Amino acid sequence: TWTTTNVVEESVAAIRERVGTKRAICGLSGGVDSAVAAALVQKAIGDQLTCVYVDHGLMRKGESEQVEKDFVAATGVHLKVVEAEERFLSALAGVSDPEEKRKIIGREFIRVFEQAQAELVAEAGAAGEAVEFLVQGTLYPDVVESGGGTGTANIKSHHNVGGLPDDIEFKLVEPLRRLFKDEVRMVGQELGLPDEIVHRQPFPGPGLGIRIVGEVTKERLDLLREADAIAREELTAAGLDRDIWQCPVVLLAGVRSVGVQGDGRTYGHPIVLRPVSSEDAMTADWSRLPYDVLSRISTRITNEVDQINRVVLDITSKPPGTIEWE
Ligand code: XMP
Repeated sequence: TWTTTNVVEESVAAIRERVGTKRAICGLSGGVDSAVAAALVQKAIGDQLTCVYVDHGLMRKGESEQVEKDFVAATGVHLKVVEAEERFLSALAGVSDPEEKRKIIGREFIRVFEQAQAELVAEAGAAGEAVEFLVQGTLYPDVVESGGGTGTANIKSHHNVGGLPDDIEFKLVEPLRRLFKDEVRMVGQELGLPDEIVHRQPFPGPGLGIRIVGEVTKERLDLLREADAIAREELTAAGLDRDIWQCPVVLLAGVRSVGVQGDGRTYGHPIVLRPVSSEDAMTADWSRLPYDVLSRISTRITNEVDQINRVVLDITSKPPGTIEWE
């Protein structure tokens, strides 16, 4: 029978058997999946695990600090933080195609993990065990939608599945590969992770890189970060965090429209709000947010974020739209 206790016990035993005395690293993204995967592997192999947080410059406002604090406080795990903004942004320069962006981000993640691996090995010296394993928070829907399941077409390369380079040298540990999101949350709860982690809304590994339609640049990321922070602030203030599954905020960087602000003409970019409700992200419906909340978000974004002169609402379900725009 399926119980979270059984799932935890079986996974822990399987991870121990697979990893043995070797070491593993786990990329933390700030999302619930990587946090639960890390906590599960930590339960199995303890200090043989080091978590790596890659600050790729594609995170939301305040997120890096939050990952560093929340997760370490909850688990006491070893954490290595890698500053890699320049590396990711220069790799993404000039690229607008969504799949190409995903592949580049997946590749750079692996290169950073390889570097972290080399550093850990060097630190441990000759007597240290090899860092052979890479832990990923891949879920069942990620496997299916990346074409790794049976009979389903490839929809997009999730960075932790289809987006990996071919020459990867790590052995992968993916303890959540058979689970859906709600099951992952239950496992997280069973492992004693705090509510702020267990109930965190999903956030994709490629981050804001796939929420800018068009080329990803530092300036655009900064605009999107501001707009996103406002939307999240207002949704939280309205008490809606648990009612919606997630609300991507998307910058249409290649689109401009004419507006009027103060007594001047503007020619700025639109921001898209994409609030959805869902059970498992395989299908979703657009959330019927209260008009007054939408209105506050719109007013604040256009007032407070330079170059944004329009806020639009995505009212498409999945299918036919996916949750993210890329
Ligand atoms: P889509 O856009 O495919 O998104 O409807 C389904 C769910 O998956 C998240 N997502 C990702 N998560 N790596 C992740 O860890 C990825 O590359 C990725 N792409 C999408 C998305 O936020 C939604 O919750």
